[in-house]
Amino acid sequence: MNSSDSTSLELSYDFALDRDCTTLSRHVLEHLQSFGPEAQDMSALMTRIGLAGKLISRRLSRAGLVEGALGFTGDINVQGEEVKKMDLYANEVFIAAFKQSGLVCRLASEEMEKPYYIPENCPIGRYTLLYDPIDGSSNVDVNLNVGSIFSIRQQVGNDPDHTGQDLLQDGHQQLAAGYILYGPSTVLVYSIGKGVHVFILDPSLGEFILAAENLTIPKHGPVYSVNEGNFWQWEDALRDFTRYVHRHEGHTARYSGALVGDFHRILFQGGVFIYPGTLKNPEGKLRLLYESAPLAYLMEQAGGRASTGSQTLLDIAPDHLHARTPLIIGSHEDVALVESFIEERARQAEEELALQQ
Ligand code: AHG
Ligand code: MN
Ligand code: MN
Repeated sequence: MNSSDSTSLELSYDFALDRDCTTLSRHVLEHLQSFGPEAQDMSALMTRIGLAGKLISRRLSRAGLVEGALGFTGDINVQGEEVKKMDLYANEVFIAAFKQSGLVCRLASEEMEKPYYIPENCPIGRYTLLYDPIDGSSNVDVNLNVGSIFSIRQQVGNDPDHTGQDLLQDGHQQLAAGYILYGPSTVLVYSIGKGVHVFILDPSLGEFILAAENLTIPKHGPVYSVNEGNFWQWEDALRDFTRYVHRHEGHTARYSGALVGDFHRILFQGGVFIYPGTLKNPEGKLRLLYESAPLAYLMEQAGGRASTGSQTLLDIAPDHLHARTPLIIGSHEDVALVESFIEERARQAEEELALQQ
């Protein structure tokens, strides 16, 4: 082979592998800088989450063509919400994917009243998967983006009565968290406490391929994302914030009805997502263990913030598995702006109280 042949060979290899194809499992091991048992566990767990994401993505991409994929089941879940067929399907996909993992003894999801046990895994499986199988499920039937949210926690003790009491701990206890966004592409975003990393599903390879590493959210962004149809149900502080953004240049509203989609935009472009308490739901709508805490963990890893309005979200421990909290999440400055209106109203209330005494 002469020198010009070897050059053309190198070039054709370059062309064939037009990017460094880092898969999810390899990425986890590289980031933990270890091939020890815990790193292997985490890598296997992420691979299983990826598998569930691929199965759900495949189902969603053909949902309108598959009989019985869309619409309601006729059941009401533990949250009092109507269950969609996709909620149920995705809930079971995660269970099936983790039955084979050996690593997970139980799964807890917003669709199940109590944790689901996989007894054959329990002797060695010390991890629990917490998840929202389909987030934004009202979007499914109209072919708009939805997501899945996940979090991994260590199992503490043996949980003899199978109620998952050891899961009632704050968000700092999460070992990993992330989401899968089923949009024009299927995107998986995760953190194991070492930055936030983004993978895109290459359907021809059937693999999640690394697209961006160590993502950081801008300190400030233009987007505010909140369901303004609930204005009549809000406390004054949030009304004050909304009036402020309506009257100042540089703010734009985006709200998709799927937290994962709105969060994803804000993670990349900056801004703030808000789901506050309302008259009907004083604690808001979003579930701490399956939605707010995993996204708060990611947001802090990306350099942003998550708050209930009065407390750091990751500091909150729920009093039951399906507890909800208000959520204000996004860029540092934008979360602080919302909080400033809450603090101001609290200060005024204190002053009024002092005057009455
Ligand atoms: P889920 O589909 O898991 O029940 O979650 C829906 C959530 C969230 O995705 C979204 O931000 C919010 O509900 C939208 O609620 P509203 O319609 O009340 O704005
Ligand atoms: Mn949800
Ligand atoms: Mn859901």
